[in-house]
Amino acid sequence: MATHESHIYPIFSELLQRTDKEKLLKQKAIVIWMTGLSGSGKSTLAKGLEKKLYQDGFLSQLLDGDNVRSGINSDLGFSDSGRKENIRRIAEISKLFLDCGIITINCFVSPTREIRKMAETIIGAKDFFEIFVHCPLNICEERDVKGLYKKARSGEIKDFTGINAPFEEPEKARLIIKTDLQSAEKSVNELYKFILPYIQFEKKRG
Ligand code: ADX
Repeated sequence: MATHESHIYPIFSELLQRTDKEKLLKQKAIVIWMTGLSGSGKSTLAKGLEKKLYQDGFLSQLLDGDNVRSGINSDLGFSDSGRKENIRRIAEISKLFLDCGIITINCFVSPTREIRKMAETIIGAKDFFEIFVHCPLNICEERDVKGLYKKARSGEIKDFTGINAPFEEPEKARLIIKTDLQSAEKSVNELYKFILPYIQFEKKRG
């Protein structure tokens, strides 16, 4: 049976390569994929990292759950299938940035191993940097920056991660950042130091 795919003619081979763009930007692109509970500090960390990268001459793009869900993914909810499609689209978008030589900083709850595996498969394991932004549930709940935990406890939100929807801790994160044990500044520095060797442009390449 013919599918719509049989009428699609990709032109990847005619495009400039990622390495050409990395050369132009004098950096190497990766996808920094932060996973963690709501309120664990992903966005704070991402914003701090983006600023630091900019100051040091790196071009990055920050993708954040609340922003993406009010734009391109505004049609999606928080059911298993809604979350899966949310992450699938974000992974595809990240891949476009990656192919453009841009460092992508993603902050999404991305609560299950299956969902994160899907993202890794779309992006490619080599370029996928899973970072576990770790903070105990009771502290995220205490912080309750957006007031959502309170709503989840009262039953106003039915499928809230950590309360009445699962969060599966990563088994093989490249880095675990414990945001309850150190300042935001220290966490940003820790993450920056970790990724630096992977984004630095080597003159011998290309
Ligand atoms: S994900 O599960 O699909 O990866 P995503 O990171 O895009 O989630 O969005 C999470 C953000 O949406 C949270 O930081 C929170 O502000 C908000 N939110 C609203 N409803 C929920 C919910 N049921 N579960 C988790 N986060 C929710």
